Amino acid sequence: MLFTPIKIKDITIKNRIMMSPMCQYSADKDGLANSWHFVHYVSRAVGGVGLIMVEATAVESRGRITDRDLGIWNDQQVEPLKRIVDECKKHGVTMGIQLAHAGRKSEVADETPVAPSAINWSDDYKLPHELTKEEINAIVEKFKDAAVRALNAGFDAIEIHAAHGYLLHEFLSPLSNKRNDGYGGDITNRVRMLKEVIEAVKKVWPENKPLFVRVSSDDYIEGGIDIDEMIKILSYIKPLGVDVIDASSGGLLNAKIDLYPGYQIKYSEKIKSQLGFKTAAVGLITKAEMAEQILKDGKADLIALGRELLRNPYWPLYAAHDLKEDVEWPKQYERGKFRV
Ligand SMILES: Cc1cc2nc3c(=O)[nH]c(=O)nc-3n(C[C@H](O)[C@H](O)[C@H](O)COP(=O)(O)O)c2cc1C
Repeated sequence: MLFTPIKIKDITIKNRIMMSPMCQYSADKDGLANSWHFVHYVSRAVGGVGLIMVEATAVESRGRITDRDLGIWNDQQVEPLKRIVDECKKHGVTMGIQLAHAGRKSEVADETPVAPSAINWSDDYKLPHELTKEEINAIVEKFKDAAVRALNAGFDAIEIHAAHGYLLHEFLSPLSNKRNDGYGGDITNRVRMLKEVIEAVKKVWPENKPLFVRVSSDDYIEGGIDIDEMIKILSYIKPLGVDVIDASSGGLLNAKIDLYPGYQIKYSEKIKSQLGFKTAAVGLITKAEMAEQILKDGKADLIALGRELLRNPYWPLYAAHDLKEDVEWPKQYERGKFRV
């Protein structure tokens, strides 16, 4: 299963291993990808990952988490991303990019963060500016423009980042969204900005290429989102034609999370079984056997790995060996191939 290709829209991903988006905080000041990103992503492509989801890439400058985040808000940022995409694709990997806005969790110097409501993340964070309706519209347009640039850079997939306490999650959760206009209050209003972003992206993103959304399935705080509330939120998203829900959790506030191997699989399972989305399971999945079992049990369609791929860019090659699967190695490395 882990090495069974999956076709999503017209894109065939060669196996089920997804590199989870991971900020490198290593961009040049103006959000440009550089040689670090090139080596980092190409290494995982060489290592046999099926889908690389490039780290949170900001749709506007004040939407970066830090000054060193990647950006995709201007045309100069396209070329260095394209260089990475072109090289990675030589290794048969599908390339995706996570489009992001940090909202009130932005720590970019000299810029005021923005949010649904003027409530800071913690005392250590700046007080955000409460977005007006016009400003919300402008950010929705920026996601759309970013999608056009992602297409120009050659990406096969987009993931909209609506998790981890960043802007779109801040709109979804009643703990961070205290608005009393059409973007706050009941669930249909809180989901409005995410819906508008998806609709805007879909206007420019080809119908035959996959669209992912990453959500936080649980805020782990009384009065916030729990998995049942997330199922309701996603039932409003379902008719829009999103292909994959990447089921993460947390990040809205500093909550205590019970961490154990595969602690978020249950969210993926529920979203998949109750709403019929394809899903990615993520979070402390490190063993090939566990990844294989999640897929066999029908709890997810993709297995996203984060830190394990930082430790070992060749994890897929080891996993194939463990599962006795014969996968193609880069020809330069064939003499190192495990003999099963
Ligand atoms: C260094 C680092 C950077 C991360 N950056 C992002 C990011 O850009 N976008 C995102 O959605 N999650 C981000 N995450 C979360 C990971 O994608 C992943 O969901 C999390 O690490 C749990 O998976 P793991 O146990 O396999 O690492 C990051 C995690 C790490 C360790």
